[in-house]
Amino acid sequence: MSANAVSLAYLVAAVAFILALKGLSSPPSARNGNMIGAIGALIAVIVVLISGNLSHVWMIYVAMLIGVVPGVWAARRVKMTAIPQLVALFNGVGGGAAAVVALAEFLKSGHTDPVGSLVATVFSILIGSVSFAGSAVTFAKLQELMTTRPVVLPGGKYVSALVAVATLAAAIAVLPTGNTALVVALLALSLVLGVLFVLPVGGADVPIVISLLNAFTGLTVAASGYLLNNTLLIVAGTLVGASGTILTRLMAQAMGRSVVSILFGAFTAKASTAGGPSEARPVRSAGPEDIAILLAYAHKVIIVPGYGLAVAQAQHTVRELADLLASRGVTVEYAIHPVAGRMPGHMNVLLAEANVPYEQLKEMDEVNGEFASTDVAVVIGANDVVNPAARTDPSAPIYGMPILNVDQATNIVFMKRSMRPGFAGIENELLYDPKTTLLFGDAKDSLTKVVGAIKNM
Ligand code: TAP
Repeated sequence: MSANAVSLAYLVAAVAFILALKGLSSPPSARNGNMIGAIGALIAVIVVLISGNLSHVWMIYVAMLIGVVPGVWAARRVKMTAIPQLVALFNGVGGGAAAVVALAEFLKSGHTDPVGSLVATVFSILIGSVSFAGSAVTFAKLQELMTTRPVVLPGGKYVSALVAVATLAAAIAVLPTGNTALVVALLALSLVLGVLFVLPVGGADVPIVISLLNAFTGLTVAASGYLLNNTLLIVAGTLVGASGTILTRLMAQAMGRSVVSILFGAFTAKASTAGGPSEARPVRSAGPEDIAILLAYAHKVIIVPGYGLAVAQAQHTVRELADLLASRGVTVEYAIHPVAGRMPGHMNVLLAEANVPYEQLKEMDEVNGEFASTDVAVVIGANDVVNPAARTDPSAPIYGMPILNVDQATNIVFMKRSMRPGFAGIENELLYDPKTTLLFGDAKDSLTKVVGAIKNM
């Protein structure tokens, strides 16, 4: 392939990546956006393979097979609720690969790299290894292979600070010398730093760290592009770096936190006075028939979906309930909190799967003024995103997070299995509110029973 043809193909792939991001910014176009991005990546891979300046081509095919087979298998099999850890794994592997490429280029160069290339090498090894090791820990946390609570080692902040300083020192020392032993030390220290970076982050904040590490991987890939003299890698890496950074900030804002407090909060945390779960206080619970009557004779119902809806895979049944109520003249809307579930857009994707019309999905700012004129707010498998402690209790871990104003509705129904708290691990006063009724059970079972009861009315 001529150099011009390669450049042209790279340009097409780069445009595809940009169009993909545009498509992914809204639910109706997200599927197409994803497909356009995949086509861009395919073009990039094919061009590299047929451009004619590769050695060890069969080893490359074997490596692709080793990556593609488990990758496709995992992506097809993964449950919607486990997507964040799959993203973490894929992202970590990307960062690790970019670090390995930088190391290989360094060893191949015979250590005669110009300073510019050495800077890119050091950057790729450092940030790529942090991303790889950090992502492995986020995976272990989300997959519950280890505790999801913040892990603070004895003297943790000093150990982390020491490792960070040693890593930086190794990185700087490599530059004038190009010394191989120092590069290996940098790699090892960066891996340790990646682990120490993520250990103190609590489970509820892990998806934000995944997004941050994703941005790191993007920047590492861009640096590898510089080393390999490949413009497409620079463009793609920069896009991932920029979009990952924006996403991290948006998620932190939606939780009312700063990225710094998410990353280093465990080092300065004071004991929370926000209560844990208590089974002793009385609550009002009811059967599906009572909830059916409440809903069927309402004028306006707002459904608040949360993580538990995804766990129960109740998206089709909730749509059936909404359709049934609409056929009886009830106005039904869905209130979507930006961090409901465990990843950005979790609820949108879940409800889109059940073909819930997009116009029924209301973002938090749009819907919050409507709760005061709502007869029934039905909270299905959600907890933290409606917990008033976010407004009232400065010691609560979710304090400052904007919440859905469910407490302003005339009646509140919670569908959950028990009195257990949500991801943040704190009690929700709303469960004890006199206008709250609890329907205990798996969300799908409860919804099926309520639908059945309304049909029998
Ligand atoms: P949570 O506060 O975690 O509450 C989920 C509720 O679902 C739990 O109280 C649980 O109660 C219930 N549940 C679980 N399985 C169920 C089932 N099969 N049937 C019925 N109920 C079930 O969820 P949320 O309100 O969606 O809040 C999301 C949390 O994740 C927030 O803390 C948020 O900050 C955090 N987070 C989200 C993101 C993104 S981007 N989405 C990123 C970082 C952190 P029972 O056990 O009693 O059933």
